[in-house]
Amino acid sequence: MVRLISFEGGDGSGKTTQLKLLDNYLASRGKLCLSTREPGGTTLGEMIRKILLEAGKVEIAYPTELFLYLADRAQHVHEVIRPALASGRLVLCDRFTDSTLAYQGYGRGVDLDMLRRLNQVASHGITPDVTFLLDCPVEVGLSRTAQRNMNLKSGGSREDRFEQERADFHERVRRGFLELARAEPQRIYVLDASRPTEEVHHEIKKIVDEKLRDG
Ligand code: TYD
Repeated sequence: MVRLISFEGGDGSGKTTQLKLLDNYLASRGKLCLSTREPGGTTLGEMIRKILLEAGKVEIAYPTELFLYLADRAQHVHEVIRPALASGRLVLCDRFTDSTLAYQGYGRGVDLDMLRRLNQVASHGITPDVTFLLDCPVEVGLSRTAQRNMNLKSGGSREDRFEQERADFHERVRRGFLELARAEPQRIYVLDASRPTEEVHHEIKKIVDEKLRDG
């Protein structure tokens, strides 16, 4: 049964847009779902998100960064995801445990087995039933975020801490996500996110319809 769907991908891969489109589609078919995100998704989580993403305000050591993401997840699972699942809602989550493996593991070099154990604690053992990995070349994603930041710009720069990372960091993250997908092809669907939004949405709809039909 599909209860939790996560959307993963590099910065600017379009996962947030795809999540919203799927949410609208499912709502139009009368399916009760809850859309949420990490970091964020709770009041405390939004505070943690601010700390994590504000570029250049304070220096954050790698272990601190990791524990902030995990703290955010623990609160999110406790306050939002578990109650929603318990009430029978389908949960759509913008980033989840795979982001920690890709960014802190492959990106920062933290041991993957340790991250898996920590993810288990933070997520209370909850794993996504389906994950959409929106994959596109790093340059495509970064140019989309640069465009988004220009559009949002009102005085200061909107670039976040991760967008300031060098291209090789983003390459490692991308390769990491693809490796995770290779290891779990039955859960993680890799979608070519350099295609037009509608095309990607169509593919997602097809997969979700099939999954929901199969129960
Ligand atoms: P997000 O809001 O999805 O950013 P964007 O829309 O630009 O992709 O996520 C914020 C950042 O947090 C993103 O760069 C990835 C990072 N992140 C981690 O490093 N580890 C994690 O466990 C999570 C959930 C996110």
